[in-house]
Amino acid sequence: MQKEVVVSGIRPTGFLHLGNYFGAMRNYVRMQDDYNCYFFVANWHSLTTHPDTKELKNSVHRVIAENIACGLDPNKVALYVQSDVPEIAELYLYLNMLAYKGELEKTATFKDKVRLQPENVNAGLLTYPVLMAADVLIQRAVKVPVGKDQEQHLEMARNFAERFNYRYGDVLPLPYAFNYGSELIKIMSLDGIGKMSKSENQMATIFLADDDEIIRKKIMKAKTDQGPATPDSVKPDYIQNLFTLMEQVSTKDTVAKFEADFNASSTGNCIIRYGDLKKQLAEDMVQFIHPIREKAADIQSDTHLLHGLIKQGADKARDRASETLKLIREAIGLNY
Ligand code: TYM
Repeated sequence: MQKEVVVSGIRPTGFLHLGNYFGAMRNYVRMQDDYNCYFFVANWHSLTTHPDTKELKNSVHRVIAENIACGLDPNKVALYVQSDVPEIAELYLYLNMLAYKGELEKTATFKDKVRLQPENVNAGLLTYPVLMAADVLIQRAVKVPVGKDQEQHLEMARNFAERFNYRYGDVLPLPYAFNYGSELIKIMSLDGIGKMSKSENQMATIFLADDDEIIRKKIMKAKTDQGPATPDSVKPDYIQNLFTLMEQVSTKDTVAKFEADFNASSTGNCIIRYGDLKKQLAEDMVQFIHPIREKAADIQSDTHLLHGLIKQGADKARDRASETLKLIREAIGLNY
């Protein structure tokens, strides 16, 4: 039986963090045996925010190295850089004719960027979801492992694919956001404000490249409160976030102990000690990140190895992308 095709990408706009890991990369690693996987570094997407392109090169290498350090096997999957696959750019052009200004302006991520960088509202930002759809549709993927923040982009990719199929014939399967659980994941920032991200509060974001002391410091500073007022309270989202992180890196017994302490606590009888919870979480997080950091640094320092892997990934990605492009050109009628 043919394996289903999976695509996902990460922007090289900074250091990768726990949101990237638990929202996306962990699933990449779990999917690599059962699916035909295409994972890439979305360097074209990052140009929308006008980064320093010298830094960008380092970041591209680091994202590749961190993916491998997290367990991705470049011999099992296609691990590549977006700009090495020009077929994506051609499909982006066709899809742009099927994307409307009104819907692009309403996209949540576009509205965020207009707020964050009002001096640079370029057309690439507006059509960001179209390029993302091209990334996915060029491999005719059906599953896209992403965090919750990318859900709307996937909905848009399905709309563009449906419009293409309606106008030119049935070429593109419809892609869906994917997570092994029923819900897509959102890791919050440790200050309790919004999602963990590469660009906002760096002290509230844990990066895969952080050293042990920084990890401890950031977790000990995470937002907490006085504790629950009644037994079995609903957890505020910043407390839930600490439990979510603990579920990822600590043993089941550890999580169960702190859950029980939380549920038995009330004003005047606060059994849960957030200081203890954070200390335990910090130690478990250090154990978790330490080997990833060391391995990623080793891989990143070997540029010869990286260049070979990037070339190998591009070849694999272009094989299927050029097949799709041929079907697309035929469907539109561009085969003269
Ligand atoms: P990017 O680079 O912002 O993030 C990469 C992946 O990490 C997930 N993620 C999170 N998940 C949970 N909690 C968080 N706090 C968190 N922060 C980030 C993201 O959901 C994503 O899965 N537009 C994409 C890159 C992209 C792409 C694609 C993805 C370009 N083309 C095609 C899939 C398919 C982005 O900016 O991700």
